[in-house]
Amino acid sequence: MTVTGTEFKRGLEGVIADQSSICLVDGVEGKLYYRGYSISDLVGCTFPEVTYLLLKGKLPNQKELSEITHKLREKRSIPRFIIDIIHSLPKSAHPMEVLQACVAALGTAHHDDEPLEEKIITLISQFPIICASYYRYKKGQAVVPSSQDESEGGHFLQILKDAQSDKEEARIMETCFILHMEHGFNASTFAARAIGSTLAPYHASISGAVGSLYGPLHGGANEGVLDIVKEIGSPENVSAWVKKALQEKRKITGMGHRVYKVKDPRAYILEDLLKSCAEKTGNTKNYEILKELEVTMKLEMEKRGKPIYPNVDFFSGALYNLLGIPRELFTPLFAIARVVGWSAHLVEMWQDNRLYRPKLLYQGTRDEKFIPLKNRRS
Ligand SMILES: CC(C)(COP(=O)(O)OP(=O)(O)OC[C@H]1O[C@@H](n2cnc3c(N)ncnc32)[C@H](O)[C@@H]1OP(=O)(O)O)[C@@H](O)C(=O)NCCC(=O)NCCS
Repeated sequence: MTVTGTEFKRGLEGVIADQSSICLVDGVEGKLYYRGYSISDLVGCTFPEVTYLLLKGKLPNQKELSEITHKLREKRSIPRFIIDIIHSLPKSAHPMEVLQACVAALGTAHHDDEPLEEKIITLISQFPIICASYYRYKKGQAVVPSSQDESEGGHFLQILKDAQSDKEEARIMETCFILHMEHGFNASTFAARAIGSTLAPYHASISGAVGSLYGPLHGGANEGVLDIVKEIGSPENVSAWVKKALQEKRKITGMGHRVYKVKDPRAYILEDLLKSCAEKTGNTKNYEILKELEVTMKLEMEKRGKPIYPNVDFFSGALYNLLGIPRELFTPLFAIARVVGWSAHLVEMWQDNRLYRPKLLYQGTRDEKFIPLKNRRS
């Protein structure tokens, strides 16, 4: 449909609303690039290295990498008033709600004249602390002081479990963070940019993006996959389960994507990590169910002429489960990584800002006859 020269696209699908040189999602070839570098090359990097790349647009040299690594570690703390907020929120809250509230609250302690880069590095370092601290508070456990020696992956595991992290697990965590850092114009990045385009402050823009990521059609999907795995119970049940689910027109969480029309490149990497972790721990059941589900869904959907494939959430929940991470922290883990991408977008956008203002296709009436309150019957 065309409205005054503009094509109507529900959900803005395929609409080009801005330009960026941060990330390319090639949905046809199944490729993902950060600043032109393939994700398959970047998974071997460290969190600070990819953070630098996304924020600055180039890979750091040794000196630049040491500086950003040091800065991220040095900023590992949250102010007392954030701990008070965490301790005053209902324990029934989801950590994503708490994260959104704390990010907005943190904004009150920053000033307009503070360099944006300072705010960004500080907030990136604070995300894992807010998430782990709230989770521990819920469990009646004390906040764990951050170690300066751990990598970003290790730091999260250390403050969650109150123990020095296992080197291999820390590396897996770091890889998961890198895979989730950036993904083009998805809903939460759109939210960050839309809010930022009003020249609202950095923290306000990021807190809105956290709210967007919370949704089950976006970041929240990784929690839902474990429900499905539990419901299926064992690999032999997959075929019957899929037929019934498709008959009931259920959407299979962790499958399908608005942009990828092939298997998500991140899903391949997460699958390899899950497989080796499952084999190492001898706990392969969830992996086997997921593999069977992937194969069966492919066949069933191909028959219907709509092939769909695993997305980034398909294998990540089962992997986090093996790392001993509680389910309600799955989406916060996504946020801990994605704050880097959101921040890169704000830095880029504010260099040449333009207010976002799309249109709605108005479907209501006009020129209704106004009836004064005293004369209204129903
Ligand atoms: C992500 C998502 C919203 C994209 O939806 P979309 O853009 O409408 O997907 P498509 O247009 O490619 O869908 C094509 C068809 O496949 C179906 N389909 C898409 N994803 C499906 C899924 N996960 N399970 C079953 N069928 C699915 C759609 O219903 C559609 O069928 P229809 O034409 O009969 O309506 C959708 O795939 C979904 O809900 N996935 C589950 C949630 C999830 O994992 N989200 C995380 C995304 S990273």
